[in-house]
Amino acid sequence: MAHYPHAGNVSAIDISKRMLERAKARTERRGVSVDLRVMDAQHLQLEDASFDTVVATFVFCSVPDPVAGFREALRVLRPGGQLLLLEHVRSENAFVGKLMDWLNPLVVRLTGANINRRTVANVRHAGFTEVQDSNHLFNIVRLIEATKAPETPS
Ligand SMILES: C[S@@+](CC[C@H](N)C(=O)[O-])C[C@H]1O[C@@H](n2cnc3c(N)ncnc32)[C@H](O)[C@@H]1O
Repeated sequence: MAHYPHAGNVSAIDISKRMLERAKARTERRGVSVDLRVMDAQHLQLEDASFDTVVATFVFCSVPDPVAGFREALRVLRPGGQLLLLEHVRSENAFVGKLMDWLNPLVVRLTGANINRRTVANVRHAGFTEVQDSNHLFNIVRLIEATKAPETPS
């Protein structure tokens, strides 16, 4: 909460009411104002082109249809707006990637999170054209920065 700019409006969503209660306690502790709402990332009840930036940290491993979620992020971003993600993804190392595929059903059953998501490809598949990513831990934790194409004058 401390890292978001509070000059503008900050909205935060989660599908879990309990997680939002924890976030609410944090906003109160820090004295910041955030609009917290229960919502599914795959079906945002938010207006088209109404956000400058969409941020998610370690969310899209558990969203059932991540591409649908990224399409929704694209829809609510204004042209030229940015999607910023910190996510754990499937390793590009052939052996580790296969191991992650093999272990994934068990991990999903135990934690609800997928460990073999191809998140950079999913972001592109959703329609983001400018996508950059950088490695932050063992080639598995990635910072992904994607931009919605600016409006072309007609
Ligand atoms: C590993 S936690 C990360 C929480 C927080 N973003 C953080 O970085 O501390 C994953 C979160 O994704 C949320 N989540 C899972 N599926 C979702 C969905 N379809 N829509 C919105 N949030 C979802 C879970 O409720 C959970 O709070």
